[in-house]
Amino acid sequence: MPLADKVCVVTGASSGIGYQTAFDLAGEGARVCVVARRKERLEDLLQRMPGSGHSMAVTDVSERDEVKALVTHVTDEHGRCDVLINNAGFSGERPLTEAGAVDDLKAMMDTNFYGTLYCTAEFLPMLIDSAPSNVVNVASMAGRLAIGGAPGYSASKFAVVGFSEALYFQLRDKGVCVSVVEPGLIPTEGFPQTPVLSDPVMKYALGSVEGVSKAIRSAISGRKMERVVPRWYYALQVPRILAPPLYRLAQRKLVTPKQEDYL
Ligand SMILES: NC(=O)c1ccc[n+]([C@@H]2O[C@H](COP(=O)([O-])OP(=O)(O)OC[C@H]3O[C@@H](n4cnc5c(N)ncnc54)[C@H](OP(=O)(O)O)[C@@H]3O)[C@@H](O)[C@H]2O)c1
Repeated sequence: MPLADKVCVVTGASSGIGYQTAFDLAGEGARVCVVARRKERLEDLLQRMPGSGHSMAVTDVSERDEVKALVTHVTDEHGRCDVLINNAGFSGERPLTEAGAVDDLKAMMDTNFYGTLYCTAEFLPMLIDSAPSNVVNVASMAGRLAIGGAPGYSASKFAVVGFSEALYFQLRDKGVCVSVVEPGLIPTEGFPQTPVLSDPVMKYALGSVEGVSKAIRSAISGRKMERVVPRWYYALQVPRILAPPLYRLAQRKLVTPKQEDYL
C-alpha cells in the first residue's frame, strides 16, 4: 500500500521509535497525526517533519476519555484514518516485594496494553470506513520470550501480541490488516540499553530506531502480520518452541540475572 496521502496516527511520537516512524511516514508523503503527552516535543517534531497536512494531539493513551478526544481531533482535522500505529509504551519495574510495585505494574499495563486497546477500539469504525487500512501494534521480543527479568513488562507485551494476533484474523475480512512489530534491543530515551552499548559482544545485538521504522512501514505496505527487528531475533524463538527445558536452562544461566528478586 503506497503511503502517500494516507492519514497515519502515531502514538508515542515524542521520542524514539515513534518519533522516527512519524518522520519517515511524513517523508513518504503521508499526513501524520503525532500523539504523546509532551506537547513541546510534538511541536518540535511537527516543525521538522517533511511534507504538509500534519497535526498533533497531546494525549495520554491510558485515559480512555483522552483517546476519545483524539478520535474527535483526527475526524475534525483529517476526516479519516488509514493507519493507526500503537507505539506508546514504557518499561521499568521493581521487585514485587517492594511497596508500590503492583501499582507500577498496573500503570504499565494501562499504557502498554489498555492504551493499545482503547486506541484500536475507538479508531476501528474509521479504519473500517477507510479500508484497506492498517493497525500496527509495537510489542517487543519480550512479548514472545519472557526474558530479561521484567515480568510486568513482558505480561503487557504478551497481551499486545495475543490481542494483535487474534484481531488480525478477526478483521481480515473487513480490510483492516493488524500487524505486530516486535523490536529487540533498540537504544532510545526510555530504553537506553546502557549495559549492552558498553558490552563488546552484545552491542552487535542492538537494532536501531531507523530499522524499526522501516519494519513498521514494510508491515503496512506488505500487509504483514508480524515483524521482528532485527530479523535474526526470530531464531531466538525456535528453542522456546522445540526444546523448552533447554531454553529455560539457557535463560537461567545467561539471560536473566537476579530472577530471584522477583519471586
Ligand atoms: N527501545 C527498545 O529497546 C524497545 C524494545 C522493544 C519494544 N519497545 C517498544 O517500543 C515502543 C516505543 O519505545 P521507545 O524505545 O521509542 O521508547 P521512548 O523513546 O521512551 O518512547 C516512548 C514514547 O511513548 C510515549 N508514551 C509513554 N507513555 C504514554 C502514554 N501514557 N500516553 C501517550 N504516550 C505515551 C512517550 O511520550 P510522552 O512521554 O511524551 O508521553 C514516548 O513518545 C514502546 O512500546 C516500547 O515498549 C522498545
